[in-house]
Amino acid sequence: MEPNGYHNAWIVLLDEDKKYLTSAEAGYGPAFDPMRTQLKNGDWPRCVREVLQRKEILITDNPKSTCYNCPLSHYLQNRSAYTISLRQNNILYGIFSACIPESFAEDKEEQALFKETAEDIALSLYSVKTEKARRQAVESLRKSDERFRVALKNSPIIVWSQDKELRYNWIYNPNPAFNPEEVLGKKDEEILPADDARALTEIKQKVLKSGKGSREEVRMTVKGTPFFYQLVTEPLRDAQGNLTGITCASVDITEFRGIQQKLEKSFDTTIETMSKIVETRDPYTSGHQSRVSQLATRIALELNLSREKIKGIRIAALIHDIGKIAIPSEILTNPGKLTDIEFSLIKSHSQKGYDIVKGINFPYQIAPIILQHHERNDGSGYPKGLKGDEILLEAKIIGVADVVEAMSSHRPYREALGIDVALEEISKNKGILYEPEVADACIKLFKEKGFKFE
Ligand SMILES: [Fe+2]
Repeated sequence: MEPNGYHNAWIVLLDEDKKYLTSAEAGYGPAFDPMRTQLKNGDWPRCVREVLQRKEILITDNPKSTCYNCPLSHYLQNRSAYTISLRQNNILYGIFSACIPESFAEDKEEQALFKETAEDIALSLYSVKTEKARRQAVESLRKSDERFRVALKNSPIIVWSQDKELRYNWIYNPNPAFNPEEVLGKKDEEILPADDARALTEIKQKVLKSGKGSREEVRMTVKGTPFFYQLVTEPLRDAQGNLTGITCASVDITEFRGIQQKLEKSFDTTIETMSKIVETRDPYTSGHQSRVSQLATRIALELNLSREKIKGIRIAALIHDIGKIAIPSEILTNPGKLTDIEFSLIKSHSQKGYDIVKGINFPYQIAPIILQHHERNDGSGYPKGLKGDEILLEAKIIGVADVVEAMSSHRPYREALGIDVALEEISKNKGILYEPEVADACIKLFKEKGFKFE
């Protein structure tokens, strides 16, 4: 205050809602306390109320008589007060008020000097606030980075990014077999076997092209060892929203895949055992279900069905006659003509197979396929006489494969009819008993693609 010749002065800092933050005084001492209380309560004295509305200095002459609710007014006898709001970039930081000799109050130079002082204070407050915000941002970034590193430390997750040309430009927690330097700046084809690289590049290019993330299971052979990963790929954009590359996170699921494969193998063994149990009851049909399964799977592949559907067809075909365990083996192996009752007993095998299998929690829909494998398109099949679209495609495929295998093999009551006769039957009844596209795929397999039962 001294250099400017002010008797005393005070400053109050306000928040964005113009609420009291803090205040300071010079030259008043304890006499400022009532004013501080008033400011805290938002009970603004006249000078504050006025400067909140404007940017210019408010000059108050003889405050003792004009400022009735100002606790400092009795201090200001024969003096004047300058009051101004502290603003920078249109942000209000507070109010600055100083008491000067009455004789200086109208001095333009004095007023300019006071205004300059207020501007300096506001600029300092602005810088402090900006610096504080910058430091807070840096600190929050550091904390988030730290949290990210701690979370990923010892985790099986690898994260990285690649630019638009799919060159690796950042990698964290790399596979122990990798040295990040061996990867950075390179593309997949420079570090992985051709097949793996091609599959990976295809996934990543799809993300770049569509701008949409993906989640895939992939194989990466690292220095001769195959690893399986769950790979999550997301497009990466700059602040303006332009695509700059991709970011990926992957989890090593090699161990899990190993367990899954063992489980699948043991599941397959169980199915094969079930299949063989049925066939021990009827040695003439030994290998029938396995051959039907081979053909049905090939037809399903030919029809481009999903992997899951194909798996279901393979399994269902392997045990499609499982209901025959419930039929006396004398009937199954009877070389002579069957009575109507015997024939209807044999026909009950699809329902019985369904009943056996329906309680087992297979990963695919098996029971309904077994139930329907003797249904025919025109409704002439059994057990329900379903027609066309009422029959599952899987059951139609197994139905065709079943007929072809049975006709081309030896039976107790007849010699093998041969594959040509079997295919003639399928062709003749295509669209009547058999689904046309299934019949066509089956015929094509034998006639054009050299399919043979093993
Ligand atoms: Fe059957």
